[in-house]
Amino acid sequence: MSRLRVSSFTISLDGYGAGPDQDRDNPLGVGGGALHEWALATRTFRRMFGSDGGTTGIDDDFAARGFDDIGAWILGRNMFGPIRGPWPDDEWKGWWGDTPPYHTPVFVLTNHPRAPIAMDGGTTFHFVADGIDAALRRAADAANGRDIRLGGGVATIRQYLRAGLIDEMHLAIAPILLGSGEHLFAGIDAPKLGYERTEHVPTPNATHVVFAKRK
Ligand SMILES: NC(=O)c1ccc[n+]([C@@H]2O[C@H](COP(=O)([O-])OP(=O)(O)OC[C@H]3O[C@@H](n4cnc5c(N)ncnc54)[C@H](OP(=O)(O)O)[C@@H]3O)[C@@H](O)[C@H]2O)c1
Repeated sequence: MSRLRVSSFTISLDGYGAGPDQDRDNPLGVGGGALHEWALATRTFRRMFGSDGGTTGIDDDFAARGFDDIGAWILGRNMFGPIRGPWPDDEWKGWWGDTPPYHTPVFVLTNHPRAPIAMDGGTTFHFVADGIDAALRRAADAANGRDIRLGGGVATIRQYLRAGLIDEMHLAIAPILLGSGEHLFAGIDAPKLGYERTEHVPTPNATHVVFAKRK
């Protein structure tokens, strides 16, 4: 059966998964770009974006694990892009160019549905307007027994967390303070929802923590 996994989702020391005021120049919100420094340095992420080199070791091992056995993704509309409200046209196709790094069906939660977009490299963006359970069902069908990666952003992970639907969550804690933005855990009692820590590995660039649902 497919598991719903969060991987390499990065929060600041003060708990923010994105800075404020996202726009085209600041996909992770103002100041939020610093969250991903650990990930962008890894061999896995550099290859994903067509570059050589990159770090190997613990950070890269966690980054690579996140792509193992993934058959579909779920994203929130703000992770897909900075446009809010009704789509003005069909021009926006994500931040990632013609060949996004998903290579599977991707289900984008939104209140503003639009037709699916087939991209190069096997990614098709499907827009889901009937909620998190519907997105999960469609992703599970598409994944065909492989796992589903819940990419983010914050509001989307919070909904699946509150519903107790996330099986495993790898968070990287970046050694930065953001001060404001989108807070991952505010008002959520994760232990009460049944989550416990199963791994905890610090590196100079991030502290990796994995949470899973108690059996
Ligand atoms: N730190 C990390 O590792 C990481 C990873 C991924 C993303 N991010 C960042 O996180 C930020 C985005 O997070 P976010 O919390 O602002 O937003 P988000 O979770 O990406 O998207 C929220 C939006 O998705 C739509 N949506 C979500 N749930 C829905 C539902 N149940 N039904 C219908 N529509 C639904 C709504 O958009 P509409 O009503 O407009 O349709 C909602 O405003 C970005 O800055 C992104 O770069 C960070």
